[in-house]
Amino acid sequence: MANKSIIVKAPATVANVSCGFDCIGYAINEPGDILTIEKQDNPGIVISISGSKSDSIPVVPENNTAGKAILSLLDALGSKQGFKIHIEKGIPPGSGIGSSAASAAAAVVGANELLDKPLNNGELLVHGMAGEAVASGGFHGDNIAPSLFGGIILIRSYDPLDILKLPVPEDLFSTAVLPDMIINTKEARQMLPKNVPLESAVEQAGNLAGFTLGLHESDFDLLGRSMVDLFAEPHRAKLIPGYENVRQSAMDTGAIGCGISGSGPAVFALSDSLEKAKNIGLAMVSTFKNSGLTSQSYCSPIHTQPPEILG
Ligand code: HSE
Repeated sequence: MANKSIIVKAPATVANVSCGFDCIGYAINEPGDILTIEKQDNPGIVISISGSKSDSIPVVPENNTAGKAILSLLDALGSKQGFKIHIEKGIPPGSGIGSSAASAAAAVVGANELLDKPLNNGELLVHGMAGEAVASGGFHGDNIAPSLFGGIILIRSYDPLDILKLPVPEDLFSTAVLPDMIINTKEARQMLPKNVPLESAVEQAGNLAGFTLGLHESDFDLLGRSMVDLFAEPHRAKLIPGYENVRQSAMDTGAIGCGISGSGPAVFALSDSLEKAKNIGLAMVSTFKNSGLTSQSYCSPIHTQPPEILG
């Protein structure tokens, strides 16, 4: 029989990775959200939250990414099971490294375990995305898929959903730097134009193909050449004070490529050693300081594991 309670940790993620708007994302080792989920005798979901900048997160289940994800899952199963959820936010909301996605990922994994695993990974993703849509105002999976499955994920198609794991080169490291400010994903999505010029679409498609080949062949030079975003970054860069300088400082410190993580304000870089990833983090933090922003750097290899069951 399944347990009555479970503790699950899901990792932060870097979405878009420059050339893959809404279709590429990868997971990082830290930070992560830790959810304690307990079965309740009465139906309904009761949520409490603590941790990083958690005051701004709604506890009404329909408006909370974890709550909504579990409601969607229960609805699909026709189940009236009640749950009590405590969310310990390690990932500040509005930071650009998949805060809402991680809570939703941990929620669906935990609830599925407590219900004796009725759902497969694809189904968990759909319910996780339904949860995340509450925060982002859009149905996108480039944060939740890597948080759920680990590694570097390509969403080839949303309808029908087609999720592919890309190879993770051994010497690939990530730096994610979070300035102390918030960008609302919903607003950052609304500011994007609905159409892009044909020549931008062609260039973005070429870069995306180059990026995936670069991962397959561990060709870091090709990865770097491909890490260009013509869709979101030109519109969002102005939301992040000093963005161009921060990006340049990462490139000057040896980054393979650098861009806005998700909808920002976090900025990510890829590099070929942990030492370089750390130095790039230091350079970016110092450059953010010139724009009056304190920031926090997270460096790691690509995180390849699914959410961890801690207890
Ligand atoms: N692909 C999404 C966006 C990620 O850029 O809006 C949000 O974290």
